[in-house]
Amino acid sequence: METVTAKGLEVLYSRQQIADRVAEMGAQISRDLNGEKLVMIGVLKGAAFFLVDLSRAIQAEATFDFVAVSSYGKGQRSSGAVKLIKDLDHSIEGKNVLVVEDILDTGLTLAYLRKLFLQQHPKSLRIATLLDKPSRRMEQIEADYVGFSIPNLFVIGYGMDFAERYRNLPDICLMPVENQE
Ligand code: IMP
Ligand code: MG
Repeated sequence: METVTAKGLEVLYSRQQIADRVAEMGAQISRDLNGEKLVMIGVLKGAAFFLVDLSRAIQAEATFDFVAVSSYGKGQRSSGAVKLIKDLDHSIEGKNVLVVEDILDTGLTLAYLRKLFLQQHPKSLRIATLLDKPSRRMEQIEADYVGFSIPNLFVIGYGMDFAERYRNLPDICLMPVENQE
């Protein structure tokens, strides 16, 4: 396997490893749905890449909605506060909801969103995250579906950014230390 991209970035998970894992997650989610419909809610912007791939690995009738929150500024450091920038377009009352996130890090974002969404009384609410950094958790929250659990590393690519850059890298790469704030 290629471990360094053309730009010299170290690959943590290759596009093939991501595709294989996303297929497994989709199969698991499909089984758990038992033939019921699903509303997939993506957390913009990072989760958009994972959401479109995951949705095509799920065998169920699915609809989509998106929210946007701000928890990180231009760099990597969380301000601690989560603000809703874009709300849901449609009610999720009585629906089977799958919240799709790129990374579960401190848990502030998903804890905030879970509380917000539960106020609408969905039939079920589950969380799928591509990456999990359990060592960084500040809020008590776990995802129902985790792609890869990773140590405290800053990653870019496959939707994940550093100051809005690198989202379109096809592989998940490590952010070079010399570029970090
Ligand atoms: P949390 O509220 O701390 O769980 O933050 C989750 C959000 O932080 C994710 O949706 C990402 O946007 C961002 N984030 C956390 N770790 C990383 C990383 O390693 N690379 C890029 N974004 C990250
Ligand atoms: Mg994000």
